[in-house]
Amino acid sequence: MNLEGLMSNSPASRSDERAATAAMSKAVRILRRGGLVAFPTETVYGLGARLSDTAAIARVFGAKGRPVDNPLIIHVPGWAQALSLVRRPPRSVKPLVAAFWPGPLTLVLKRSKRVPGAVTAGLNTVAIRCPAHPVAQRLIRALGEPIAAPSANRSGRPSPTRADHVRADLGDRVDMILDGGPCRLGLESTVLDLTRRPPRLLRHGAVTIEAIAAVIGRIRIEDGDRDSGPARSPGLRHRHYAPRVKMILVDPGPWASRLGELKHARRRIGLICRKNGLRSPRRVGFYRRFETLSDYASGLFASLLEAERAGIRILLVERVRKRGLGWAIMDRLQRAAAG
Ligand code: TXA
Ligand code: MG
Repeated sequence: MNLEGLMSNSPASRSDERAATAAMSKAVRILRRGGLVAFPTETVYGLGARLSDTAAIARVFGAKGRPVDNPLIIHVPGWAQALSLVRRPPRSVKPLVAAFWPGPLTLVLKRSKRVPGAVTAGLNTVAIRCPAHPVAQRLIRALGEPIAAPSANRSGRPSPTRADHVRADLGDRVDMILDGGPCRLGLESTVLDLTRRPPRLLRHGAVTIEAIAAVIGRIRIEDGDRDSGPARSPGLRHRHYAPRVKMILVDPGPWASRLGELKHARRRIGLICRKNGLRSPRRVGFYRRFETLSDYASGLFASLLEAERAGIRILLVERVRKRGLGWAIMDRLQRAAAG
């Protein structure tokens, strides 16, 4: 069901509106029956289940092939609806919520008894986020209950930023997909753990460390690649974002001569780069050039999936500097290349 017209800011016709309302009612019915609904957010598509339905939560893990020790994010329409899910939130919550909600910032807080253990993988903390997408907002409000949702991809695969990515990856494992068009940001939310001092950044996203520090002061970046010790954000240890393409991260440079050194047919080679691209991009099998960091972020996962579909064997991908959004882009690139 395509809701792009209505749910974005463009004017919609009456019949579009009726169709969207019908799709929304259907999605709510499915969730109430224990089904799974994929829905758009401003970051990536989520695979949603009703928070209180533990059987549906179990189906989410099954559909994704997700390890059961990797907890889900709970989606709420605002802070008021998060209150009953948490215990003793620290003072820093208020300014963070005021600055970044709705938006791509997930907060890890102590959980209340209302949160099913299956959602948090047995942890005594819970991750909560308030999506800034009208379809997501409307769905949660219509359901009248928070929605637990991971990204709507099979575990270890690139996250979906379009409805057709969800369909291709999950197929019949999802009961309905609400199509809100391409996701604006394209990378998953920033995850910030407020249960420790100073707060720990567990996952980079569009809300940057710099922006968070400007609101609450010093935070620490968690080294998610460390394998020893207790898992602070269990998801970080697992294989991630890996396309079925060999990815090589490279610094910007003389593309043409580098491509010449590769022992593959030209149509099997792909290149994702920034400003200084190739003069004759038709000579490779896949070519994407991103002028800005935000274009890079929003187009990255879609490009990896596209390169894969184009039958690319080797994909050269240009590194960016770890600054602002560059942190999140490099984090996804490094994990995808490691897979
Ligand atoms: O942008 C997003 O956050 C998307 C959209 C759909 O909202 N969701 C998403 O969910 O990326 P998922 O499941 O793919 O990633 C959730 C991340 C994982 O790394 C998980 O380990 C971490 O959040 N997480 C969840 N609960 C946690 C907790 N209680 N403590 C620490 N990390 C937690
Ligand atoms: Mg994910």
